[in-house]
Amino acid sequence: MANFWKKLNKPIITLAPMAGVTDIAFRQICKQFGADVIFTEFASTNALVFGSDKTIDMLRFAESERPVVAQLFGNDPEMFARAAKIVADLGFDGIDINFGCPAYKVVKHGGGVALMRNLPLCRAIIEATIKATPLPVSIKIRASICKETPLKKGKGKIKACGQPITALDLVKAIKNLPVASLMIHARSFETPFDGEPNVEIVKKVREIWPGILIYNGGVYSPETAKKMLQQTGADGIGLARGAWGRPWLFKQIKDYLQTGTYKNPDRNEIKQTIIKHAELALAQKGDHGLIELRKHLVKYVKGWPEAASLRAKLVQVKSLDEIREILKNTP
Ligand SMILES: Cc1cc2nc3c(=O)[nH]c(=O)nc-3n(C[C@H](O)[C@H](O)[C@H](O)COP(=O)(O)O)c2cc1C
Repeated sequence: MANFWKKLNKPIITLAPMAGVTDIAFRQICKQFGADVIFTEFASTNALVFGSDKTIDMLRFAESERPVVAQLFGNDPEMFARAAKIVADLGFDGIDINFGCPAYKVVKHGGGVALMRNLPLCRAIIEATIKATPLPVSIKIRASICKETPLKKGKGKIKACGQPITALDLVKAIKNLPVASLMIHARSFETPFDGEPNVEIVKKVREIWPGILIYNGGVYSPETAKKMLQQTGADGIGLARGAWGRPWLFKQIKDYLQTGTYKNPDRNEIKQTIIKHAELALAQKGDHGLIELRKHLVKYVKGWPEAASLRAKLVQVKSLDEIREILKNTP
């Protein structure tokens, strides 16, 4: 099977996975704004293997999203291999392995970023997944995890970190495996979403990793995208929260990299995007799609002068007409 990663033009601007956010409608909207690769929300290998309808439904995708990659989390090579076969049967273009999730429900079972503490297991999981199907296998990892940080809920700050296990350690351990693409979320487990990205570690990985390298973490503007590409030598950028409520960021980044300028959408253009997004949500998932849409709607209007009152209305919308009416009455 063709490895789509090899055919992409660089820089590659991808939609990074976000559980509960990168649903099918949002992914399609991001694709329309030029996302080069789409990642699903993460799916549990165990849930897939045991035939969870909810998980299978979460992995539904539209043809227009291609190339589309299913992200898996788990802790057992055999389960990854079995889940990978299911993902291949579902028609995905690639499989991504999650080595970065800090959520308690994932790390308490030794999955996500907890795997970075067991580099032989990381290797075994990647090998088993690659062996299971002809699909290209990518991985998403974190900048680092300290050995001492408890894998507990609300772990708080640790006093000292001896020697963290870093992205560089992981990459050294798996360097000779045919991993199709490597995305680094440049923050540590200890500062999971708000810490200053560790750009240095990405630069070090670049020195030893000749394959596709995607930088992720804190890219909310075209200027930052350009700066991170230049500083790290990465082949692309993974956008997560920066694209939530602002899917046009994909186009802005591409415009900026090509021409040095980009345009911010005006109110009418944003309203049109909201309606398009709502139509997709409704078409894909009916009324439930509109409920899923609410968290996107409130992001779209962030920063508008009337955002507070709009948010109160948008979190309750039950129909497309209602959304149209609210937007019509908002100048
Ligand atoms: C709500 C939310 C859900 C996320 N879910 C996943 C996930 O399922 N898999 C994953 O690898 N990363 C997940 N992430 C991490 C993002 O992919 C990304 O690495 C992180 O948000 C840093 O990028 P940013 O600073 O551009 O948001 C999630 C992040 C958020 C905010």
